[in-house]
Amino acid sequence: MDVFKAAAQRARTHGDVLSLAAGQPSTSAPAPVLRAAREALDAHVLGYTETLGTLPLREAIARHHAHEAGIPVHADDVVVTTGSSGAFTLLFLAAFDVGDTVVMARPGYPAYRNTLAALGCRVVELDCGIESRFQPTVAMLDALPEPPAGLIIASPANPTGTIIDAGELAAIARWCEQHGTLLISDEIYHGISYGDARTSSAWETSKESVVIGSVSKYFSMTGWRLGWMLLPWTLHRAVERLASNMTVCPPAISQVAAIAAFTEESRTELDAHVRRYAVNRTILLDGLAAGGITDLAPADGAFYAYADIGHLTQDSRAWCENVLATTGVALAPGVDFDTVAGNHTVRFSFAGTTEHMREALARLAPALRAQGG
Ligand SMILES: Cc1ncc(COP(=O)(O)O)c(C=O)c1O
Repeated sequence: MDVFKAAAQRARTHGDVLSLAAGQPSTSAPAPVLRAAREALDAHVLGYTETLGTLPLREAIARHHAHEAGIPVHADDVVVTTGSSGAFTLLFLAAFDVGDTVVMARPGYPAYRNTLAALGCRVVELDCGIESRFQPTVAMLDALPEPPAGLIIASPANPTGTIIDAGELAAIARWCEQHGTLLISDEIYHGISYGDARTSSAWETSKESVVIGSVSKYFSMTGWRLGWMLLPWTLHRAVERLASNMTVCPPAISQVAAIAAFTEESRTELDAHVRRYAVNRTILLDGLAAGGITDLAPADGAFYAYADIGHLTQDSRAWCENVLATTGVALAPGVDFDTVAGNHTVRFSFAGTTEHMREALARLAPALRAQGG
């Protein structure tokens, strides 16, 4: 957020900012969603909805998962939330008590850590490196002093973009079932992967796990604030009671319009975005390699490249500030995602336009050379 603030300031004073910092698509919702939203304004009252989401949307989400993962999923399994961020808060409150231990990967998405800490949970970070594609493994879980109350995994991950091996995910899901650990599988970047990389879902192995989804990434609808969970029955009532108190329901217009996100027409538009991300990814990885930045997490999915820039700096925040000041390119410093080793890492987002990606690389090249020597 500090980077966004500095970038906004730079945009005001210089008007030349290219952001490779934002973790969101640069495009609007797909055309069928926009049409449905316009129609909804005239045709619907748009008052409160059912707390757990409207039935037509829950049915559309269930069909989507059943199709993607090849497993039976019912509308009753789906709980719609205010972004996946809303799902995390509800779930953590429903599933964990103060003092419970919840495990996650480091580097990882900082909001897990911050929200859990705010709720009084004990966060244990697994030091994940290139050997495990920056993902937790069963061996790491076996090495814990005792089974934790919860484990959060994300695949494709933020900030690394790495995808967990399907066999390892299944083994982790079984381990969690056997040890009474609630597995929370953040699958909000599903639909965005490259080459032969394939995502799989925790629900393919265990319906005792929680799958987290969102319209924010593949569906290009961040500001519509809709997410969801595939939730085991044991947690439904607690989540429903919390949600009815905390938000009443997710945004009504987003729920009505989002049904159109799960159509063939939307998919065609959204898949074109993924093809653009793939082009941008190649431009970025080639440009970084040319600039001497070669120590990267395998960018299997999402729209991130996470790089070690230890030869350039041991203070990623200051380095990013300097890059912004000298080039107008905004990057996300690794310290946001990794409080131990993030002082020498940086995250590049390639969710923007291809033109911007080329321009950003052209601007970064002399800066990398100048600073890298
Ligand atoms: C891994 C991960 N999970 C969850 C979120 C939250 O997304 P939203 O609340 O928009 O669904 C993000 C946002 O960047 C993310 O990267």
